[in-house]
Amino acid sequence: MGSEFFTFVKSGGGALIFKKGAKTPAEMASKIADAEKGGDAGDGSASGGQLQASSQGNDEKSAKDMPKTSDSEEVFTWTDINYSVPYDGGERQLLNNVQGYAKPGVMVALMGASGAGKTTLLNTLSQRQRMGTVSGNMLVDGRPLGPEFQRTTGFVEQMDLHDMTATVREAIEFSAVLRQDRDVPKEEKVAYVDEIIELLELREIQHVLIMSLGVEQRKRITIAVELAAKPSLLFLDEPTSGLDSQSAYSVVRFIQKLARAGHGIICTIHQPSSLLIQQFDMILALNPGGNTFYFGHVGDNGSEVNKYFSERGVSCPPQKNIAEFILETAAKGGKRQDGKRLNWNEEWKHSQENKTLLAEIDHLNQERSKIPTKQVFTKHEYASPIYLQCTMLTRRMFTQHWRDPSYYYGKIFVAIIVGIFNGFTFWKLGNTVADMQNRMFTSFLIVLIPPTVVNAVVPKFYQNMALWEARENPSRIYGWFAFCTASVVTEIPISILSSVLYWLLWYYPTGLPTDSSTAGYVFWMTMLFFLFQASWGQWICAFAPSFTVISNVLPFFFVMFSLFNGVVRPYAQLSVFWRYWMYYVNPSTYWIGGVIAATLSGTSVQCGPGEAAVFDPPPGQTCGQYAAAFVREAGQGYLMNPDGISQCGYCPYRDGTEYMKSLNVVPGDKWRYLPIFLAFCVSNWALVYFFVYAVRVRRWGFGLGYVFGPLGMVGGALESGIKKMIGWGRVGSG
Ligand SMILES: Nc1ncnc2c1ncn2[C@@H]1O[C@H](COP(=O)(O)OP(=O)(O)OP(=O)(O)O)[C@@H](O)[C@H]1O
Ligand SMILES: [Mg+2]
Repeated sequence: MGSEFFTFVKSGGGALIFKKGAKTPAEMASKIADAEKGGDAGDGSASGGQLQASSQGNDEKSAKDMPKTSDSEEVFTWTDINYSVPYDGGERQLLNNVQGYAKPGVMVALMGASGAGKTTLLNTLSQRQRMGTVSGNMLVDGRPLGPEFQRTTGFVEQMDLHDMTATVREAIEFSAVLRQDRDVPKEEKVAYVDEIIELLELREIQHVLIMSLGVEQRKRITIAVELAAKPSLLFLDEPTSGLDSQSAYSVVRFIQKLARAGHGIICTIHQPSSLLIQQFDMILALNPGGNTFYFGHVGDNGSEVNKYFSERGVSCPPQKNIAEFILETAAKGGKRQDGKRLNWNEEWKHSQENKTLLAEIDHLNQERSKIPTKQVFTKHEYASPIYLQCTMLTRRMFTQHWRDPSYYYGKIFVAIIVGIFNGFTFWKLGNTVADMQNRMFTSFLIVLIPPTVVNAVVPKFYQNMALWEARENPSRIYGWFAFCTASVVTEIPISILSSVLYWLLWYYPTGLPTDSSTAGYVFWMTMLFFLFQASWGQWICAFAPSFTVISNVLPFFFVMFSLFNGVVRPYAQLSVFWRYWMYYVNPSTYWIGGVIAATLSGTSVQCGPGEAAVFDPPPGQTCGQYAAAFVREAGQGYLMNPDGISQCGYCPYRDGTEYMKSLNVVPGDKWRYLPIFLAFCVSNWALVYFFVYAVRVRRWGFGLGYVFGPLGMVGGALESGIKKMIGWGRVGSG
């Protein structure tokens, strides 16, 4: 039934997937069909190409009546930026006295060889470095950066990280509503989203799920999501990498539009064509080690750049791409007229141009700092209040689960399958001693569920957490509290639903007591169990430093959970080491104990054939006369035929209560264990919040590095040893 109701939408390129209920514009549908006919619809870029073609036609028009999407005139300057990270026991300098500025309407290209430190510089300028030491001055209008800097600057990362199940419009709206100032009315924010959609020409695909889009379209969405925050300053890390020259050109034209619309732009660009580089106003060129060797205007056909270099004896041959020229020159070095080798880093440091730049930065800062700040209200790190963050994100996560139904489906499926098999394996249990054992086992079998469910929760949570850590938190869209709340809340309905299914399919077929007190109790416990296991997976995920650690830790938890609860090994037989702590800290002890107490307490035991001890009384005595004293002394069990005169049967248990004694469970545990198990659920939720805050926000390690570091080394050594043995090492490293 489930597989009838759920569609298993695949991600990746190919046909565009519209959200359910969205009107597919007729012309869009025909466009898609055309593109597919064209035969190159392979990765969805065909439709991108179509849109692109239309976009170039629009360029001239839209450049003229370009809406001002940023009215900020703030100038961002940076001087003496140094950044170093601990490396191999020492320090490694990745940025060396970098300076420059970004102004509204100006496009700066950040260039340099691979590994020169471009991404590092962008991360540093946008305040996203998590480790190492940063020094230098970064000023907005001559003033230090405020707490709102991160959310008011856009960072278009190289990777297009999105919630893939959101539609284009949803993704942009999410960012607009949460990142724009809290006093802007929602209607205004949504209206602004329309503007962005228009600007980036996303109207036709606004209701398409992001996972079905091609590379170029995704890049435009990444840009759109950042623009939705109305950033005055936009950082872009290689927005053109992975694109063909056509798409790259179209992306750069878009970026240029943004500059004209009033944004300051700093953009790293990899191997740009001459056409591309001329769209930029300025170039900041870096050499490895983060050394600047040029910052200045591009000029017509790169004339300004050429001027700087030819003054020093190296000029760009006509027809040569100025971008390539810069990179090659820097890499090769060169000779001055007097024969001395040129060091371009030193050359720049002592150049007149550099001095002019510093003077200009000083001037900019002085001029701008005279202008009084317009914002007098309190500045927030996150634009929106926590309540709004929580509700928006919760809604998005519900939608995510709904559109990627394999997750919910999997949980329901496990509940149904384990429920049915458990229920029908222990079909209509009777009252023999063996049945008592079966009653215990059927309750115990719920431990089969967590390994599957937790293994589904973990990657889902991890994926959402990765998105939050990599992009959405650095952009200050929502904070840790909203993330935890949404993750916890979206698990609740599905846990309740699966618990109802499991309980119905398991409880009634087994013939456990159906009086409302017992059945109701077991139902509540089952529901708690399903809630418990969802948040269990989440906090393990939140605290573990990597996915490998999670997969190493989980089996340990599962084994402890199933073994030390007094069923597989009864309490009395547990070794002393486990008996006094593991048994008591194990949540399953309380779940199973409580359910056994509820279901066995009132049940009578009738020994089946072979279960009673059979003996003959001495002649002249009944079974009762002969053995009653013994039974009293034993304190449990009963004589099956006290009036008989032969074949007396002694059944070792009178009722379930006596049977439970061997399991260290008494009837009173029913109501004692429920609140304890509830406390475990609550503490699981609390741990989700705690670990996300402690490990992900505060970056506390809890010494796990010491535990897993050596383990990782052992693993790594083993892996490389095995690879060497089977001859992978040579192939792999070659
Ligand atoms: N956390 C770190 N620890 C040690 N070295 C680092 C760290 N981060 C970056 N590096 C090194 O710093 C240098 C600059 O890296 P960065 O990613 O900024 O280069 P890039 O210019 O963006 O290169 P690409 O064009 O390949 O993206 C590289 O040599 C990289 O190995
Ligand atoms: Mg990079």
